[in-house]
Amino acid sequence: MEKRKRSWAEPYKMKMVELLKMTTLAQRKKALQEAGYNTFLIHSDDVYIDLLTDSGTSAMSDRQWAGMMLGDEAYAGSRNFFHLEKVVQEVYGYSYLVPTHQGRGAENILSRILIRKGDIIPGNMYFTTTRLHQELAGGKFEDIIIDEAHDPENEFPFKGNVDLSKLEKLINKYGAARIPYVSIATSVNMAGGQPISMANLKELRAFTKKHKIRIIHDMTRVAENAFFIQQKEKGYDKKSIREIVREINSYTDGATMSAKKDALVNIGGFLAVNDWDIFEEARNMVVVYEGLHTYGGLAGRDMEAMAIGIEESVSKDHIKARVGQVLYLGNKMLNYGIPIVKPIGGHGVFVNAKKFLPHIPQENFPAQALAAELYLDAGVRTMERGIVSAGRKPNGENYFPKLELVRFTIPRRVYTQAHMDVIAESAAIVYDRRKKIKGLKMVYEPKYLRFFQAKFEKLQ
Ligand code: F0G
Repeated sequence: MEKRKRSWAEPYKMKMVELLKMTTLAQRKKALQEAGYNTFLIHSDDVYIDLLTDSGTSAMSDRQWAGMMLGDEAYAGSRNFFHLEKVVQEVYGYSYLVPTHQGRGAENILSRILIRKGDIIPGNMYFTTTRLHQELAGGKFEDIIIDEAHDPENEFPFKGNVDLSKLEKLINKYGAARIPYVSIATSVNMAGGQPISMANLKELRAFTKKHKIRIIHDMTRVAENAFFIQQKEKGYDKKSIREIVREINSYTDGATMSAKKDALVNIGGFLAVNDWDIFEEARNMVVVYEGLHTYGGLAGRDMEAMAIGIEESVSKDHIKARVGQVLYLGNKMLNYGIPIVKPIGGHGVFVNAKKFLPHIPQENFPAQALAAELYLDAGVRTMERGIVSAGRKPNGENYFPKLELVRFTIPRRVYTQAHMDVIAESAAIVYDRRKKIKGLKMVYEPKYLRFFQAKFEKLQ
């Protein structure tokens, strides 16, 4: 007999709902114009389904909300800090914790401690805030991700992997002493949420050990990466997400974390390291930029919700449904013939704007234009991850990234499968009229992280 199919469903039920606002086309046109064709500048009241980011947009569980009531708002030595510290040690395996208000707070502190002027920081693709903090500290980022990651069509399952020969070249050119650490992200955001394999991490660890170079882990979406290792990497199908997360972390020396993603909270982050000296300096520096070392810019209740969220994030049922929903949307879009980054990643579906809009040259911001059109159709808010996000080099020239993408980022535990259907249908309608879509010109450009606040006008 043929094996019966068994579907997964969300491992939770709803106790409270937030009503959504529907808008008219005329309202959306006005909102888009006022926002200068930048989806970051649209008021969320004018958005129907918000896929701008999975950052800070998750739904907390009843247990996390209950934890908020247990907030110990003491200035120093809050019990919630000690709870969080214990969870970070047990679930993630790092020795010392410095909380920060969010991920970039940790990146700032870490970059200031480890990077000297003229240093080189190799990494598996840049991330906007991470690279900027490296540059502001006087360093230069060098991309050492495998070439496959820059090709949206390539279906290699671990496109987050490092190309060790690229790292070796950097060591030969600059010397290991000028490389304070290798910056490794799990679920590489800018590549489309692509995982790094355990085998690659192990090799990288052995290689960096030889050269006495640290590995710093951007563990923002580590559980999602662990899920792909469990599903796709030999020898890991019987291991739990928790075990895989611990093993990943064991090959690294420290981590920066934006807890607003994997860890299911609306605000929070941390720096976690194994080296006492770095910890000591970070604990000292956090007082300058974030707050005392036992709260780092967070309320006690935020740390409690984070501690509970970390535990929930490594549960098998959670991660299966979370990534399962992303895969569901991605496969639906593939069925409509929409060009997306393959394989489908862990936190969102990334549409290949270069292929969707081949008639718009990169300097006219195809992904930005596409995100605007998608919003116009049904009020679905996505974001650009292409030339606008890539910004300018320290010398002022534009970066021209190979990937010109629109990200449909799925918040955790927020939308249903029916929402996914509506999103895919809207994208298909925009795809049908793709030839009529025009490019944009930038009319306002902020100095840092321009994608957040830049303004555009439509080209005629
Ligand atoms: N690292 C990664 C991989 C991220 O995705 C982010 C944030 C950060 C660091 C910075 O953390 O926002 O807490 O300061 N990514 C968000 C996004 C903004 O939409 O992808 P943060």
